[in-house]
Amino acid sequence: MQVEFWNERYKEKVFAYGLQANDFLKEQNFPPNSKILCLAEGEGRNGVFLAEQGHDVTCVDYSEEGIKKMNQLAEMKGVQIQTICADLNDLDLEANTWDGIVIIFGHFPEELRKKVHGQLYKALKDGGKLVMESYHKDQVNYKTGGPMTTTLLYSEDELKSDLSTFPTLKINQTMREVHEGEFHFGNAAVIQVLAEK
Ligand SMILES: C[S@@+](CC[C@H](N)C(=O)[O-])C[C@H]1O[C@@H](n2cnc3c(N)ncnc32)[C@H](O)[C@@H]1O
Repeated sequence: MQVEFWNERYKEKVFAYGLQANDFLKEQNFPPNSKILCLAEGEGRNGVFLAEQGHDVTCVDYSEEGIKKMNQLAEMKGVQIQTICADLNDLDLEANTWDGIVIIFGHFPEELRKKVHGQLYKALKDGGKLVMESYHKDQVNYKTGGPMTTTLLYSEDELKSDLSTFPTLKINQTMREVHEGEFHFGNAAVIQVLAEK
């Protein structure tokens, strides 16, 4: 999917994935005042949630309309976030910078997936934590949200291989009810990842 697709989606007044953070992210904890990077953050629901908890949050997305919505949501909730409008193809993450990295439903073609996932370990500080939830390849059978093609959906083996440098890596492939905005609407095949440097 191209950036134009996301800009069209985010031009609407309504927040496509809702105002609440992702359910899996809400179950996680970061140490107080963590410096957290949210990649492919869309309209900012996860970044704003983390900022409300007092974290220092930077959100990246390549959709200008998404960035506008992030800033709007942050203002609505009375918090500050940093936003970066950038294509992850062109972005190199700085080493040893983040206490946390969050990627929620960030689905990339294979080459970009490997590039982004391959930088996460380096970009985290020692003890830093990765939180990621993605749709599993099985999700093509459910049609309750996410990309409709297996090339953009992930398998456990792909993520294990991408994230093999992490000494602590938990990958949980499961079915769960996802009700996060109008585009995530029902029982879904997801993969949840927790990793620590
Ligand atoms: C399904 S949305 C998820 C948004 C957000 N993480 C959430 O959970 O609400 C996927 C996001 O990935 C972003 N994205 C896809 N490819 C990207 C790329 N190459 N660079 C930056 N952002 C990208 C899109 O703009 C879109 O906002």
